[in-house]
Amino acid sequence: MQTLTTTSLQIRDNQLWILDQQALPQQKIWCPTPDVATLVDHIQTLRVRGAPLIGLSASLLLALLAEGGMPKPALSEALTVLRAARPTAVNLMNNLDRMKAALAAADHVSALVNEALRLVAEDNALCERIADAGLPLVPPGSRLLTHCNTGGLATAGVGTALGVIARAHQQGRIAQVWVGETRPLLQGGRLTAWELGELGVPLRLITDSMAASLMARGEVDAVWVGADRIAANGDVANKIGTYSLAVLAHYHGVPFYVAAPQTTLDRACPDGNAIPIEQRAASEVTGVAGSFGHVQWAPASTPVYNPAFDVTPAALISGWVLDSGVVTPAQVQAGAFRP
Ligand code: MRU
Repeated sequence: MQTLTTTSLQIRDNQLWILDQQALPQQKIWCPTPDVATLVDHIQTLRVRGAPLIGLSASLLLALLAEGGMPKPALSEALTVLRAARPTAVNLMNNLDRMKAALAAADHVSALVNEALRLVAEDNALCERIADAGLPLVPPGSRLLTHCNTGGLATAGVGTALGVIARAHQQGRIAQVWVGETRPLLQGGRLTAWELGELGVPLRLITDSMAASLMARGEVDAVWVGADRIAANGDVANKIGTYSLAVLAHYHGVPFYVAAPQTTLDRACPDGNAIPIEQRAASEVTGVAGSFGHVQWAPASTPVYNPAFDVTPAALISGWVLDSGVVTPAQVQAGAFRP
């Protein structure tokens, strides 16, 4: 396959390489990803993460395996295993549905390669269009708050919510971005703080529990987040802690925007209750681990509740900023996301 480079994925020497997002920002390690078991491990340990990126990495690996001569039945089995790697972000399923159709083609090898490369190029273009659509919602002097990581690391382009923020910064509209650290895995503190710093965007890192007092002090003009799945009624699954921010924003009269590509839409999912929520290991809550080391503060046997995502009801969302434009609450109520 041709060489390819995004912020966190590479194809070189006919192999998939991923930038280890668990090691960032202290270390920049590119990991080889030769087979399905390795990619599933990368996805489940969040070395590869972010809704669009998970789907793209799975699609690229499948195409490379086909090129390497893996027979059709084995590719079909690989697709099924990859599809189940993480349950919440629907981009993985949406991308692999397209790869499944390519696998059915007579010349399935070139169909899979072309489709995987098309998905990457499309995601890049979708990010640009999201940034275009979101820009008018960011007036000059904006002090925005964001959660988790929705940037170039999580996509094949400039990102979703972070793409809007980066575009607004280029236009001189950003006074300040408040970056929520995003416990338990600290995607905000490790990844968003790093990405915004690289882009020269003025930022201040906060712990998740500081958002309420900032809003009460009038220091947040809008909240911008991404999405892992958008249901037909507009409910949004996103990184745990998103719902708390939406409740806080509603109480304080702060606009709350969700930015996502069409690959995050699940029209077949009626509402947030039907979105599968990934439960993760207790060790992520009893302590923390990364390239900075490992600490445990709670007793090892402490019972833990650790859902990776929560659902924000549509009623708390001011606008869904998609590649096709901004969808308003009235349009969502009228059925914009229904099948
Ligand atoms: O568990 P993660 O880090 O994969 O969760 C990612 C998020 O929740 C992001 O905010 C979302 O996928 C949008 S990425 C453009």
